[in-house]
Amino acid sequence: MMKCTAIVLAAGKGSRMNSSVQKQYMELNGFPLVYYALRAFEHSCVDEIILVAGQDETGYCRREIVEKYQFQKVCKIIPGGRERYLSVYEGLRAADCDIVLIHDGARPFVTQEIINRTIEAAVQYGSGIAAVPAKDTVRLADDELTAVETPQRDRVWMMQTPQTFQYSMIRSAYEKVLEQQIQNITDDAMVLELGIHKAVKIVQGSYRNIKVTTPEDMDSAEAFAGRLEPYS
Ligand code: CTP
Ligand code: MG
Repeated sequence: MMKCTAIVLAAGKGSRMNSSVQKQYMELNGFPLVYYALRAFEHSCVDEIILVAGQDETGYCRREIVEKYQFQKVCKIIPGGRERYLSVYEGLRAADCDIVLIHDGARPFVTQEIINRTIEAAVQYGSGIAAVPAKDTVRLADDELTAVETPQRDRVWMMQTPQTFQYSMIRSAYEKVLEQQIQNITDDAMVLELGIHKAVKIVQGSYRNIKVTTPEDMDSAEAFAGRLEPYS
């Protein structure tokens, strides 16, 4: 049997949210935001969950989230790093598994179908990245805001998480990228591309699988949370 571990990231500052409480701990329908992602993995086929929290917030997460809501699969709560990719690397170092799912704690509405699709692709192709087709046309611009390139819209996909990988592959890609001090890494797929020059496999995510980033996203999240089916 293959062992699957989910790394749930909650070590960010949430600066774009402009809130007093960090966004991952903001209340959504009576629960802290990160509760929803943990709940989805708790009820999934993954064997264990590693929660990556801020340096000073591991105790809070243990008491107020993991113990309070009795998440059985959370086996470690570890401090993250300065940037997202450094937090992921801490999670990878704490993991020991065949398949690893990397998920933003600020994405509350991941479903079992999405989780399973990313795992199936990772088993078959080495990676499975949840994503949705772009709805708007994307245009690349230079520093003067002059548009320089317009990719064909039906080829543009918006990356989400989970981003799921064969563990040994993503771990060595991370080590390469850290060694070479590559900058501006915004997702894990990039690490595979830049670290070991391997293309990732995209799988269907969902337009509801939003990352809560700015205050408007919290409005959408409230609307979606009201319609969530409970797990039995
Ligand atoms: N994250 C993390 N460690 C970091 C930065 C981000 O674990 N050093 C996590 C966040 O907690 C979030 C996810 O990675 O769940 C996606 O990052 P993002 O949406 O950018 O969150 P923040 O970095 O917290 O927000 P911002 O960029 O607006 O400051
Ligand atoms: Mg960020």
